[in-house]
Amino acid sequence: MATTTSSELTAPFLLLLLLAAVARSTAELVNLTLLTGAQEKGAVCLDGSPPGYHLQRGFGSGRHSWFIHLKGGAWCNTIGSSRNTIEDCSYRKMTYLGSSTLMGAVEFDGILSNDKQLNSDFYNWNKVVVRYCDGASFSGDAEAQDTDGSTIYFRGLRIWNAVLDELMEKGLASAKQAILSGCSAGGLATLLHCNDFHARFPKEVSAKCLPDGGFFLDAESLAGERYSTFFSEVVQLQNVSEVLPKDCLAKKNRTECFFAAELVKSIKAPTLIVNSAYDSWQIQNILAPAESYHGVSWSGCKSDIRNCSSSQIQVLNGFRKQFVDDVKVVKDKKGWGLFIDSCFYHCQLTEFPWSPWNSSASPELGNKTVAKAIGDWYFERSQQVKQIDCEYPCNPSCS
Ligand SMILES: *[C@@H]1O[C@H](CO)[C@@H](O)[C@H](O)[C@H]1NC(C)=O
Ligand SMILES: *[C@@H]1O[C@H](CO)[C@@H](O)[C@H](O)[C@H]1NC(C)=O
Ligand SMILES: *[C@@H]1O[C@H](CO)[C@@H](O)[C@H](O)[C@H]1NC(C)=O
Ligand SMILES: *[C@@H]1O[C@H](CO)[C@@H](O)[C@H](O)[C@H]1NC(C)=O
Ligand SMILES: *[C@@H]1O[C@H](CO)[C@@H](O)[C@H](O)[C@H]1NC(C)=O
Ligand SMILES: *[C@@H]1O[C@H](CO)[C@@H](O)[C@H](O)[C@H]1NC(C)=O
Repeated sequence: MATTTSSELTAPFLLLLLLAAVARSTAELVNLTLLTGAQEKGAVCLDGSPPGYHLQRGFGSGRHSWFIHLKGGAWCNTIGSSRNTIEDCSYRKMTYLGSSTLMGAVEFDGILSNDKQLNSDFYNWNKVVVRYCDGASFSGDAEAQDTDGSTIYFRGLRIWNAVLDELMEKGLASAKQAILSGCSAGGLATLLHCNDFHARFPKEVSAKCLPDGGFFLDAESLAGERYSTFFSEVVQLQNVSEVLPKDCLAKKNRTECFFAAELVKSIKAPTLIVNSAYDSWQIQNILAPAESYHGVSWSGCKSDIRNCSSSQIQVLNGFRKQFVDDVKVVKDKKGWGLFIDSCFYHCQLTEFPWSPWNSSASPELGNKTVAKAIGDWYFERSQQVKQIDCEYPCNPSCS
């Protein structure tokens, strides 16, 4: 009896060890570092706890190269709404998106991987993942009273400044090469902070920006509601203002200037925009949120683009057209790049478990995977990395 049990236990246990070893060789777990002096600077998460980041030191020829990744996780626009969603800041405050007391280690995969086979251009760089705990793309500056009388802090802008200052002291200041990146709400934050990032380095440093899945559209939902209705609540609640480009604010209101289509016009640093024109998150949450249609008509299409009917594809193509029109403004910007595929992805560099970084699932544009395109753009190995894919389903590399 006892021997049977132990042998029954052993096989799965060994398999687990093996799987753990395989996982470790591709994606390393990196511990959380809390920002020092956060409270004095007022640079705190929604619940007042210090923000955090994960730092993996570079090595060899990557010792003076830094890759900064801002994590995503949507936005919050209300206090004490009865719906328990991350759109409510009071609820978010009790999750890892609002409190560092609930954050653990993170896996460094995709472009963060230190495996030379998987990530030949950046594997040995210093890499930092900055945790997202303010709910407004690292951009708000205010505080408010929560429903239980406690304070709720909207200090994204201070978090950005304090974390970057601390990283500068930890070696970022002597970087020779640097990239600011981020996924989703962190991709938008990359656009919002790109000029500040670039300005922190002397001219000879190659500092560039790489927003992934951060090009959110002010599109209409199926019910005709524009996304700016939601963004304007975030902007007002969290007092997003200082981060917005002055030249935009001279012409437009704060909400309009919070959109990628406006931000890119003011960005001075070379930037490569990585985004699907059929961004799965935007289709699910901006174009076809649950409240914008009746019944289950869109649920299959939203979960998998292959399940969309031809009339639904027409609607998605309308979204794509707006995307292409919005993103086109950067086509002539020198040193800029576009990797706008037509696959059904949100982020493509890291962070999502299904991120297709340099794998057989990786979309190709002009015969390049996103991994190859980023290296070519950053190191200026090829003339142009400006690709906008044709309409779905024309690209056979979309898996
Ligand atoms: C990460 O944290 C764990 C748990 O506190 C600790 O055992 C481990 O040594 C840490 N790893 C590094 C690289 O510091
Ligand atoms: C992608 O993976 C292949 C095979 O492991 C590797 O040879 C190549 O260098 C990788 N490319 C990039 C850009 O990381
Ligand atoms: C709004 O943000 C600006 C700039 O960060 C700051 O000066 C101002 O005090 C903030 N307003 C409120 C009400 O917190
Ligand atoms: C900002 O501009 C948009 C579009 O022009 C408009 O719909 C919105 O009401 C304006 N928001 C505010 C707060 O003025
Ligand atoms: C989507 O289509 C696949 C087959 O292509 C099917 O297995 C799946 O159940 C469908 N999903 C939904 C939500 O309809
Ligand atoms: C991609 O590769 C194929 C086959 O090698 C070639 O025929 C085609 O012209 C290439 N396309 C581009 C855009 O370079």
